[in-house]
Amino acid sequence: MNTYSVTAKAHPNIAFIKYWGNQDDSLRLPSNGSISMNLASLSTTTTVSINPKLNSDSLELNGSTQTGPPLRRTQQYLNLLRKIFKREEFLDIKSTNDFPMSAGIASSASAFAALSTAIAHLYRLRLQQKELSAIARLGSGSACRSIPPGYCEWKTGSSHEVSFAITIAPEHHWALWDCIALVESKPKEVSSTKGHSRADSSPLQYARIMDTPRRLDICRTAIINKDFGSLSEIIELDSNAMHAVMMTSKPPIMYWQPTSLLIMHEVKNMRHKGIAAAYTLDAGSNVHVICTEESYQKVEDNLQDIPGVIEVIKSPSGGGACLIQSKNPN
Ligand code: PMV
Repeated sequence: MNTYSVTAKAHPNIAFIKYWGNQDDSLRLPSNGSISMNLASLSTTTTVSINPKLNSDSLELNGSTQTGPPLRRTQQYLNLLRKIFKREEFLDIKSTNDFPMSAGIASSASAFAALSTAIAHLYRLRLQQKELSAIARLGSGSACRSIPPGYCEWKTGSSHEVSFAITIAPEHHWALWDCIALVESKPKEVSSTKGHSRADSSPLQYARIMDTPRRLDICRTAIINKDFGSLSEIIELDSNAMHAVMMTSKPPIMYWQPTSLLIMHEVKNMRHKGIAAAYTLDAGSNVHVICTEESYQKVEDNLQDIPGVIEVIKSPSGGGACLIQSKNPN
């Protein structure tokens, strides 16, 4: 068969300062800036092929053909890219994740970062990293932070072109780890896309947004100075502030499970014992425990002993999205 295919790979990221709520839902222009770390040990690998025989887009995730919402969301994204880049061909997409999807680990971030990277090469677009980051953002906001390597900051930006993420420190600058305590491995009840659109209904969102520049400054400086004390304090404050908004939006969203809370208390106990660890939760019940190279083994052991923890997945800081392979029939 005469197909042209490109394979790209991207890592999910964990936000230290969270993105929650949009100025513009359709363009995914965020209400506030955010900072994250890419996760080296977890990845999405995506192959995109142009096949002249296709009469619609097709999507395979971890070997199973998709028909429902994942296909629709991908098609919407592909339609947007076809419009922007003036293309017409339908695409065949095969994607695999080496971690549980929709379990509070941002699979949509690595998914859209890998997909946009593959498509940019397939279309031979020669985009700058910031342009690619903005394109990835259109699929899933946090995906823009999975394009550049290491520790990344996504500045709010008031239009599509200027809303992208950049590296603020490379991944080897500071070997932080994320130990993810899985509490549930089923998909979350309220998707982050739905959650963002509810953020403004919380009376706490305005205060959270107004205080974000301060939290971003503290977080950025803590990363640059490798200051775990300041980082842990601001990471936990930021996660609590986002979940307070979620819990007070209309209708409210409660992602925490009893085990999530148990883990948060245990992380505080670990810190009192001198173990460098800080918790943060995304739109889900799993708890990400950020720790140092010296502490991650102790953190993993402690987390595994907590009743209700299904599994601990760990990863050090990682690189950005990259091209793996390009196959041209000609
Ligand atoms: O990119 P989305 O639409 O899946 O939103 C991500 C939202 C959080 O994970 C909760 C926070 C973040 O900044 O990653």
